[in-house]
Amino acid sequence: MDKFIIKGGKSLFGSVKVGGAKNASLALIPSALLTSGVSKLYNTPGLNDVYTMLKLVRHLGADAQFENDVVTIDTTGVAVLEAPYEHVKKMRASVYVLGPLLARYGYAKVSLPGGCAWGPRPINLHIEGLKKLGAQIDLVDGYIVAKAKKLQGNRINFDVPSVGATGNLLMAAVLAQGETILNNAAMEPEITNLAELLIKMGARIEGVGTPILHITGVDDLQSANIETIPDRIEAGTLLVAGAITGGKVTVESSNPLHIYSVIAKMEESGVTITYGDRSVTVDATGIRPEGVNVTTGPFPGYPTDMQAQWIAYMATANGVSTVTDTIYRDRFTHVPELSRLGADIEVKDNSAVVRGNNKLSGAKVMSTDLRASASLILAGLAAQGTTEVLRIYHLDRGYQNLELKLGALGADIERVPGTEY
Ligand code: EPU
Repeated sequence: MDKFIIKGGKSLFGSVKVGGAKNASLALIPSALLTSGVSKLYNTPGLNDVYTMLKLVRHLGADAQFENDVVTIDTTGVAVLEAPYEHVKKMRASVYVLGPLLARYGYAKVSLPGGCAWGPRPINLHIEGLKKLGAQIDLVDGYIVAKAKKLQGNRINFDVPSVGATGNLLMAAVLAQGETILNNAAMEPEITNLAELLIKMGARIEGVGTPILHITGVDDLQSANIETIPDRIEAGTLLVAGAITGGKVTVESSNPLHIYSVIAKMEESGVTITYGDRSVTVDATGIRPEGVNVTTGPFPGYPTDMQAQWIAYMATANGVSTVTDTIYRDRFTHVPELSRLGADIEVKDNSAVVRGNNKLSGAKVMSTDLRASASLILAGLAAQGTTEVLRIYHLDRGYQNLELKLGALGADIERVPGTEY
């Protein structure tokens, strides 16, 4: 297990490019299962989660190649309709193969994902939605076994907007007979990216980008190519890296509208933001940011995937702020680790009350999940002295070459390969 050694206290300056969005790729790759032929997915990030999804579609019989940032998937040979526990336990997004396999082959057996380090992450909305499309679903020995000769369109209302359930149901409904309405659908840009690929394949979807998706099923779909959108969470994390170190950082190849909620909160904290065509610059030189409250919500609200990073930022700000997570109420495993760096944070229910100080100092800390790792790195960049971030395999699931990108901006950060961390 590798670790990072960070010598903090250096302001970051310069420009950095973000890669393709992890959570878009994790939906785009399985959507190829809806077709028979060769699809190309451009701007795919080289991340462990993406490699896990590629392994899964290969297990199903697809030929999937990844060169530079292009995934080429040939689904002609798909013959296995089962996603085993070994894959799903590694990555919950494996459940994305359920909708397309069921819609195209009339059968899918997918391991139930189980728990998560930061609390329950149910998939009841996926299952209830597929049942509404006429699937017979049984839970057998820890597996979801789904069958349907031909899915039938229906009206589906999500109690809460779920990215995964919207993606799965969208992939199922495009091949269902008749019309489907997904009400209170997730509007995340990654879902829009998926819908755009499905439309290129020949799917009929109206309302893309809105909470009401209207799908008219078609008999079959053709393989198609798409450009993966930029990773908005990587962009947000790099902007916070600029702000937390009192530097000036331009994040290129990003879509500012995808992270406007984060940018607006950053502006509120006192830093200066300027927009380019496909870039955003944060200038925090000579500024001590002020505490700003944040409450996470579905897109276009403030993303839960930027909650941990915001807490790190607020730990160095002037004043008290409250950070509330309404999406994942227990997602605070980074807090005790941030406290080891001198952060003053108290968690009550689903809120963290952060009393900012400018006295963070280096220590050994442990990553507990992907975004928690990012928050520890950000705090380490701001802290005086040396911070060791252990177990960064969590980070490698979702950030490509983060240490190289931060290093190019002037951070003193080194990856140390090892086995005992
Ligand atoms: N929910 C249910 N029932 C369901 C599904 C979801 O109650 O069947 C609830 C969840 O408990 C949560 C809310 O709905 O409170 C939203 O969860 P969602 O289904 O949207 O999450 P997800 O699809 O499992 C994706 C991202 C996560 C991100 C969330 C929220 C992917 C592969 N994962 O997960 O990304 O946090 O949306 O935006 O797209 C990450 O990248 O670090 C990450 C965890």
